[in-house]
Amino acid sequence: MDAVVKAEGLRKNYGEFVAVDGIDFEIPRGQCFGFLGPNGAGKTTTMRMIYRASPVGGGSLKILGHEAAGGRNDRAIKQRIGVVPQEDNLDEELKLRENLEVFARFYGLGRKEAKARAAEMIAFANLGDKSESRIRELSGGMRRRALIARGLLGNPELLVLDEPTTGLDPQARLNLWDRLRDLKRREATLVLTTHYMDEAEQLCDRLVIMDKGKIVAEGRPRDLIRQHVSSHVVEIAFANAARSVSERPEMAELTTLAKRHEQHQDRLLLYVDNGEEAVAKAAHLLPDAETLIRRSTLEDVFLKITGRGLAE
Ligand SMILES: Nc1ncnc2c1ncn2[C@@H]1O[C@H](COP(=O)(O)OP(=O)(O)O)[C@@H](O)[C@H]1O
Ligand SMILES: [Mg+2]
Repeated sequence: MDAVVKAEGLRKNYGEFVAVDGIDFEIPRGQCFGFLGPNGAGKTTTMRMIYRASPVGGGSLKILGHEAAGGRNDRAIKQRIGVVPQEDNLDEELKLRENLEVFARFYGLGRKEAKARAAEMIAFANLGDKSESRIRELSGGMRRRALIARGLLGNPELLVLDEPTTGLDPQARLNLWDRLRDLKRREATLVLTTHYMDEAEQLCDRLVIMDKGKIVAEGRPRDLIRQHVSSHVVEIAFANAARSVSERPEMAELTTLAKRHEQHQDRLLLYVDNGEEAVAKAAHLLPDAETLIRRSTLEDVFLKITGRGLAE
């Protein structure tokens, strides 16, 4: 595997606090690699070490063949990486076109080249008609697309995106996903952090799930689901929660169908590979209950591994 980034025992402390706690990962070329995890998991800290905004605290971090620890290769690495940071740092008072032209000049492009490259990336981001607008006049979704356009100016081998869709409305998110899929088709290597599991499932070829500075799972989205949970979840909800689920004698029979089950006050969750069988049985045994079947998600994986949801 041709790894664009390879981390071994990567660490970062802030004083006594351990933000990244000795993690190993490899990002293959030409893929979209995700870091999924709740707020505070250490995703941004890891991204900042990759895009050389923050010193490596410990361990080894090889980026495009250069060792990042020690900081001696920062210039060489930065030239080949594009960044879409979590915090929008576009210049509010400049026009979109001007923002990108100024940035393109940092990559050593001449005035004419910078103009052409900026125009090309503005078109790629579907912002052609906003070229002469000031940044403060753009919507949240447009600003994120502008950040992606800016991140691509140097024609990077690796694009690092830290929560590119957080806070966007669904339409703007879909629009941005399209841009990212376009980049994948062009065989760019993407590193993406997100706390949306649907996003990770949609976009990422491989991903790691982080929690409290550690990697708790790694793999392709569907494989992670298959390994850790089951293909489907059947949720059985009781209108009358007065009798707790565990007191129902029908439960024992239902739970034998499941790889795993969870009992809550008013709901039973069955993790099953044969959803139809479980739904039919539930309808037969518990005609008063409301039964719902859904595909398992990465949220279920996270819940199983950590015992809590991604949103908590
Ligand atoms: N500059 C900093 N100084 C002190 N603590 C920090 C700093 N940056 C991040 N942290 C802490 O490190 C942990 C991980 O943060 P971060 O990497 O931003 O998480 P994520 O991006 O996954 O939400 C959090 O508890 C955060 O408060
Ligand atoms: Mg973050």
